[in-house]
Amino acid sequence: MKLALAVSFAAAAVARAADPVNVLLCIEAYCPGCQQFTVDDLIPTYEALGSDVMNVTVVPFGNAHITDEDARTMTCQHGEDECSGNSYEQCVISLYPDPTDHLAYIGCFDKISGVMAVDKAFETCATQQGLDWDGISACHDDADQSWALQVAAAAATPADHTYVPWVVVNGEQYDLDVETDFLGFICDAYTGDKPAACSGKVAKTTLKCENK
Ligand SMILES: *[C@@H]1O[C@H](CO)[C@@H](O)[C@H](O)[C@H]1NC(C)=O
Repeated sequence: MKLALAVSFAAAAVARAADPVNVLLCIEAYCPGCQQFTVDDLIPTYEALGSDVMNVTVVPFGNAHITDEDARTMTCQHGEDECSGNSYEQCVISLYPDPTDHLAYIGCFDKISGVMAVDKAFETCATQQGLDWDGISACHDDADQSWALQVAAAAATPADHTYVPWVVVNGEQYDLDVETDFLGFICDAYTGDKPAACSGKVAKTTLKCENK
């Protein structure tokens, strides 16, 4: 009895728990740099490290601007399709708060966004990822719900961002011009015992969409 207790205590001490690293990812639909960072850096890093190490918050709004909140007007850097795409992504994050679900969905869209209409691309990805397309499109098409999500995403996007993807790790900007290893950066920021995946590598991405 005593021995069993000692063993389980030792095992608990080996896997030292720590707070996950907070990662804020500000993106916009149709921004090539956002798509590249999401697909090549963020998703592989999250898949490697998991939610115990990374607390991911995705905010799809980027360099869009709410021009008149009462009149519900906004402009998006890549036009109407981007506003619509941001809305689909805000809806999927709201309906599927687990990053494992919404990251795969956004990553799917990023890979096919150039080859079909915005709604068709999100429908295709819903089918591919086993998510409820009726629910996602109902959210997108609901004027009140979708506007509330746009306003919330605008508020959650740091006003001082100068480009997207704008990545904030534990409150500090992750500078795409300087950093070369997102996985290593998150592993360094994590104060718990380093997971085995920390010895791996993911791609470095550099494309950006400037906030003009
Ligand atoms: C994860 O991030 C969200 C948004 O910043 C925050 O509200 C939440 O408390 C964080 N969770 C943990 C476990 O740190």
